[in-house]
Amino acid sequence: MENKGPYNAAITAVGHYLPEKVIDNKYFSDYLDTNDEWIKSRTGIIERRRLDRDKPTSFMAIKAIEVLLKNRGIGIEEIDLIIVATVTPDMMYPSTACIIQKEMGASDVWGFDVLAACSGFIFSLTTAIQFIQCGSHKKVLVVGADKMSAISNMEDRNTCILFGDGAGAVLLEPTEDKNYGIIDAIMKIDGNGGKNLYQLGGGSLNPASYDTVDKKMHYVYQDGKSVFKDAVKGMADVSYEIMMKNNITSEQVSYLVPHQANKRILTACAERMGISMDKVMVNIHKYGNTTSATIPTCISEYWHDGLVKKDDYLILSSFGAGYTWGSILVKWAY
Ligand code: COA
Repeated sequence: MENKGPYNAAITAVGHYLPEKVIDNKYFSDYLDTNDEWIKSRTGIIERRRLDRDKPTSFMAIKAIEVLLKNRGIGIEEIDLIIVATVTPDMMYPSTACIIQKEMGASDVWGFDVLAACSGFIFSLTTAIQFIQCGSHKKVLVVGADKMSAISNMEDRNTCILFGDGAGAVLLEPTEDKNYGIIDAIMKIDGNGGKNLYQLGGGSLNPASYDTVDKKMHYVYQDGKSVFKDAVKGMADVSYEIMMKNNITSEQVSYLVPHQANKRILTACAERMGISMDKVMVNIHKYGNTTSATIPTCISEYWHDGLVKKDDYLILSSFGAGYTWGSILVKWAY
């Protein structure tokens, strides 16, 4: 994606929040026909976090933003745009961005939500950089937050063991040095994959009714095998494409930051790209698949552990419902 504007967008602060309540694999094997060994070996997940029933997605998003603002040493009043990636907004509308703005007391700001399932964060980041590159906005918050426990069928062993709740946020600011920041982004969609991963109920096609509830249409449905195969190919191919386009070798890549859907997908993807696993950011064992939050929570955790440094090349990559997928090349700027 060619940047014709005067600036590059650089990530200048990060923050994340995971709810305290830990749900281990035994929690599920106590009432479902599953077991710790199957879940660990087929997905890499050991535990995930769950938000209290009475708390919404914005609660986690605000916590993540608070960490970010503290670490950047600024207040919410300096933010001029808030973009929120989520498939579990607090409600259909107003947007979660509006709720965050009100709760945090941000003024003179605008914002909106982006719906792109597991690719929500990278789609939001790609949208956000346009405003920085052209110079119209100076401090843009990009948040990935999902309360997947709100849309998971806890009686379906195929899906309920996979997902967790969490939020991560990054701050984008302009840099005049175009060697740093978000260097390139390649995003794709293909609606033919829609049949493999969806939530049927609650929209205009199947508005909420006793029937949609009885038929469990307000939960995530996934054909795991098909999505697995398509995700490995989609993520590896687009990540390879961005490396080739920008003349970056696998040796130069400091970190691959893949969407955390299944540890076996991460491994297969890294293998296809020729990247060793010690260069792959992983937190799926602790948090499961937190949908929009997987990539920003990974980056924030690694950064807070002192593992991300100036000049590092990061490749962010995701694949999700839609299908939606893409890859972003970042050169860490601070
Ligand atoms: N515990 C025990 N057995 C389980 C189980 C569980 N929690 N979930 C499914 N199974 C069973 C299935 O019923 C099936 O049994 P059968 O052979 O008797 O029919 C068997 O395990 C194999 O199921 P399958 O779906 O083929 O397993 P899998 O190896 O493909 O793993 C997923 C399932 C969901 C973990 C995996 O397909 C996956 O991660 N898919 C992609 C997810 C993804 O990338 N999403 C991206 C966007 S979020």
